[in-house]
Amino acid sequence: MSQRETWATRVGFILAAVGSAVGLGNVWQFPFQTGANGGAAFIVVYLAAVFLIGFPAMLAEFVIGRRAERNPIDAFARLGHRDWRVVGVLGTLSAFWILAFYSVVGGWVIRYIVGSATGAYFSGSEAYFGAIAAGPDAVGLHAVFMALTVGVVALGVTDGIERSTKLMVPSIVLLLGGLAVWAVTLDGGGAGYAYYLSPDIDTLVANIGSILPAAVGQAFFTLSLGMGAMLTYASYLGRDDSLPADGATIVVLNTFVGLLAGLVVFPILFSLGIEPGSGGLGAAFITLAGAFAQLPAGRLLGVVFFVVLLLAALSSAISLLEVVTAYLVDNTDRSRSTLAVALGAAIFALGVPSAFGLPILSWYNAIAYNLLLPLSVLCLLLFVGWVDTDDAVAELRRGTGLGEGGAVAWLWFVRTVVPLGVLVTLLLGLQSLAVRAGLLAEAVV
Ligand code: TRP
Repeated sequence: MSQRETWATRVGFILAAVGSAVGLGNVWQFPFQTGANGGAAFIVVYLAAVFLIGFPAMLAEFVIGRRAERNPIDAFARLGHRDWRVVGVLGTLSAFWILAFYSVVGGWVIRYIVGSATGAYFSGSEAYFGAIAAGPDAVGLHAVFMALTVGVVALGVTDGIERSTKLMVPSIVLLLGGLAVWAVTLDGGGAGYAYYLSPDIDTLVANIGSILPAAVGQAFFTLSLGMGAMLTYASYLGRDDSLPADGATIVVLNTFVGLLAGLVVFPILFSLGIEPGSGGLGAAFITLAGAFAQLPAGRLLGVVFFVVLLLAALSSAISLLEVVTAYLVDNTDRSRSTLAVALGAAIFALGVPSAFGLPILSWYNAIAYNLLLPLSVLCLLLFVGWVDTDDAVAELRRGTGLGEGGAVAWLWFVRTVVPLGVLVTLLLGLQSLAVRAGLLAEAVV
């Protein structure tokens, strides 16, 4: 087997991880989750979830990845715990699964770039979404998005992922920042800022039962946790920089981009008197496209917004494909590009059914969100917190000035608060899956 690749620079690793984290989750899902869960009250809980649960969990993945220098499946064996490789298998299969439908949504985004440029959705944004979201066209663009993802991963860790995310991540921040500055000029956008930035404590207390799992789920998804993506990226470190410092940079940048997306979306919606609360996978596309259709220079704004979304989606998709590719690159003699193409084709095929109907896509999403992600994160946490404890603490401290106390505090979180939070989320997620399945059974009977 040839020499395993490593990141060329520390910034390269950080930007690749930020690229993985910043995705459809931030720009598309986050503002609408916020809208559906009571506005700024949701953000308070979300921020707590990101820093108290997401950040320690991310460090847990980093610690496993950097120490093992292997893909998620082989990492456990390499650390001397062969039995735990089933956790790596779960994560790898989940990455496979998520990418299958993520790529279908990526295809919609490509469609909306074109649709904005030509003004195709200006006469009716709801009908437009209905027409493009499912069917042969959606399959075609799913293929295009997948081909782009394969192209980057085939080029390798440094030449493909590191180089492309170094361009994509700054572009996302600049374009989104530009849109946020423009949004300040909107008449009547002020109500949007108030809704978004001033939490209402009564709403928070009254709805904590539904806000909490949504916030924790969103925190995992947006930080790319549970599927071995961060584990895999950390396995290419081959250097002794501080994991807590790098992790903190990644978490802060990701949060910043999510909040920035809200500073674009909410003023737009409020200036046009649109309620941000409606849920559903299509809501973001329908509402925003409807808004662009009414704004001066809406075509240009639409193109810029959806280009941001495409860059964000692509830099996340490559991290998902990399998880699966890394396993085969580490274990076979075939070239990375052959493997990436073959895997891309297989994942494409798995995603095809979800391109034929929104209810199917929403099932794919629910299984990932409510079951695979929390289960996988929980297993990783138990491994680091209770099984591989001493080595994990030493690994966390490697390359840092972090004292015993800081490492112990982290370990305490990883053993108790974090898995409990995840467990509650998992149980609530299972309940919501059961409700969904019940509804389905009723519809069939
Ligand atoms: N974080 C990405 C987003 O916000 C999605 C993503 C990429 C992801 N890799 C992941 C989610 C791994 C879970 C696990 O869109």
